Amino acid sequence: MTSPTDFNDRMLSLGLARVSEAAAHASARLIGRGDEKAADQAAVNAMRDQLNKLDIKGVVVIGEGERDEAPMLYIGEEVGSGDGPEVDIALDPLEGTTLTAKDMPNALTVIAMAPRGTLLHAPDVYMEKLAIGPGYPKDVVSLDMGPAERVHALAKAGGVKPEDITVCILERPRHEAMIAEVRSTGAAIRLITDGDVAGVIHCAEAEITGIDMYMGSGGAPEGVLAASALKCMGGQMWGRLLFRNDDERGRAAKAGITDLNRIYSRDEMVTADVIFAATGVTNGSILRGVKREPNFIETETILMRSKTGSVRRMIYRNPIR
Ligand code: FBP
Repeated sequence: MTSPTDFNDRMLSLGLARVSEAAAHASARLIGRGDEKAADQAAVNAMRDQLNKLDIKGVVVIGEGERDEAPMLYIGEEVGSGDGPEVDIALDPLEGTTLTAKDMPNALTVIAMAPRGTLLHAPDVYMEKLAIGPGYPKDVVSLDMGPAERVHALAKAGGVKPEDITVCILERPRHEAMIAEVRSTGAAIRLITDGDVAGVIHCAEAEITGIDMYMGSGGAPEGVLAASALKCMGGQMWGRLLFRNDDERGRAAKAGITDLNRIYSRDEMVTADVIFAATGVTNGSILRGVKREPNFIETETILMRSKTGSVRRMIYRNPIR
């Protein structure tokens, strides 16, 4: 078989699902074992192994860290067989290491692929994030609004009361003022302890998850992954990088970012079509977690392409021999 020339090749996109599946399989044995590092390492090894089987000329742009910090899947690592389309790869082999170690909901393995040069090279700093699902007018909320203003604007646009809005926020001391302000509007808050990629994705399926808006700061790399998912599912998202010191500003410079205050819209973080795959590790509201039975392991994967807007959910049962 000849290698594909287009990253949007339908068989190639199926291959991406195998990559996230493999990472989830590998971390399955470490769910609930209290060892974040081991769970992450297992997912990294398996993801890298599968990724290198894909017919792509890939470069990791969102990965496990800088080359000197991460031996595998580091930023700039070339991945794939070397045949096929030139692509950017954004990945988080285990999004929610603590969730996995403690067997708490919504840990995922995540990967996105897009044409070379089209994914924001977000440095490993925080990003202020705001996301809503599809169906709202463009820019109905913004990062420049305060938390309460966002709730009121979204409720007005949706023809509901602020009390009918549910906002998802990471439970962190840095978010205490934001949480209090959102609560003052009467809106409900779903606090999550980790996993803001899943947090953002929840907005795209509000009728299932009950979440209308995501806000708060979290990892910038996770922001680009979340923007990739929303580009496939529909919904709006904005992100602004946050810098706490010169080291972090230096990371931005290294990634070629000059405007440190810029607000990136979803399509500025992901400037062309993207393919996104995620597999559930622990049970969650978007995906079922890995099911371990004596004779088989079962995973659920979501595979999406922004070009077609297709969202495919796949259950994979693999016998244990
Ligand atoms: P890990 O999987 O690397 O542990 O990240 C989990 C996570 O909750 C992300 O989803 C989120 O973006 C980030 O950590 C938040 O960072 P912090 O824990 O420093 O607030």
